Amino acid sequence: MTAPVPSALPPNSVLGIVGGGQLGRMSAMAAARLGFRAHILTNEPDGPAAQVAHGITLGAYDDPDALRRFASAVDVVTFEFENVSADGLELLSGLRTVRPSGRILRVSQDRLAEKRFLDDAGVPVAPWHAVESRQDLDDAAQALGLPFILKTTRLGYDGKGQRRVHTAGDLAGAFDALAPHPLVAEKMIDFACEVSVMVARGIDGTTVTFDVTENRHRNGILDLSLAPARIPPDVAAQARDVAVRVAMALDLVGLLGVEMFIDRDGGILVNEIAPRPHNSGHWTMDACPVDQFAMHVRAITGLPLPPAIRHSDAVMKNLVGPDDMAQWPSIVATPGLLPHHYGKAEARPGRKMGHVNVLFPHGGLPGEFGVEAALGPLARQ
Ligand SMILES: Nc1ncnc2c1ncn2[C@@H]1O[C@H](COP(=O)(O)OP(=O)(O)O)[C@@H](O)[C@H]1O
Ligand SMILES: [Mg+2]
Repeated sequence: MTAPVPSALPPNSVLGIVGGGQLGRMSAMAAARLGFRAHILTNEPDGPAAQVAHGITLGAYDDPDALRRFASAVDVVTFEFENVSADGLELLSGLRTVRPSGRILRVSQDRLAEKRFLDDAGVPVAPWHAVESRQDLDDAAQALGLPFILKTTRLGYDGKGQRRVHTAGDLAGAFDALAPHPLVAEKMIDFACEVSVMVARGIDGTTVTFDVTENRHRNGILDLSLAPARIPPDVAAQARDVAVRVAMALDLVGLLGVEMFIDRDGGILVNEIAPRPHNSGHWTMDACPVDQFAMHVRAITGLPLPPAIRHSDAVMKNLVGPDDMAQWPSIVATPGLLPHHYGKAEARPGRKMGHVNVLFPHGGLPGEFGVEAALGPLARQ
């Protein structure tokens, strides 16, 4: 039995967010602006989300007692962290309305389930092969050709849990290095660029998409996002259509980030989906009247979804680890840089600490040199 939720939650209702990181923090801040209170399930009492929340339940994501206490404190449940156990999801779904639904989370948690779902929905993905045994891996190499990418099905992020297989000699090592099995082998796509689309869908089925974002990675971590993506208008329109198709097939209520590759012929392949605000949508915080976090909060609380309008072109640069954070005093001193700090105490290498947005007039996104120049102290040397 799921507790009934009125069509739209009234102000002062409590939004339960599973996960205490920066996505929870920025969702909580957007919730507060709309008069909602955020309550976080986290094991970090002083983490990014807890710092700005109305309340927290301290506990593990798979602790039934913590999940029950959390559910009893909130009106609707959402996630900023996807890796909640199936049992935990079932428990939460029995106590409160969960948006996006537990089913969507289960699809996005598992690369194999995700590939099968996208195939069934008729959404194009890179050719792939499930790998349970060494024989499967040899079959994958045969079917996909070399090089290809081998990925774990669960818990991968920021390029972790992946190996590139360049030669037949790499097969055994990659198979042994990645666990648990099964794994997914994917054809290596020689893409022209990587893009993403943030799509939101309301309780009435309305969908809105933000402009397509172009994404650049560095050491497996998102480094820069540019909006709008520098792709032909018809390809951008198709990318938005693909995102809407995924949202409809999932019967989404909430926000979903859809990562895609654009191949050299303008063809679109979906890479992965994330049913939550997405790092590549952070530019919307300064370039859109209603940003991805506000859209997410509106969708899960049953409020109407306004058009996802963009008033400026934008570049988002992630602040990762101690090197980027060493620039913080210059960042806050540079006019035109719009900094967002996640409140993390320690800047470990590879850790996302914040991001910076830079705005340009609508239609005025500059070329490579202009982008670097606008980043001031964060420009690549
Ligand atoms: N099939 C592929 N072909 C080419 N590059 C890929 C492929 N799969 C992943 N990558 C590269 O690795 C990055 C991380 O892979 P992804 O599957 O998105 O995992 P993560 O969960 O770490 O984001 C992608 O953004 C892309 O740059
Ligand atoms: Mg990814």
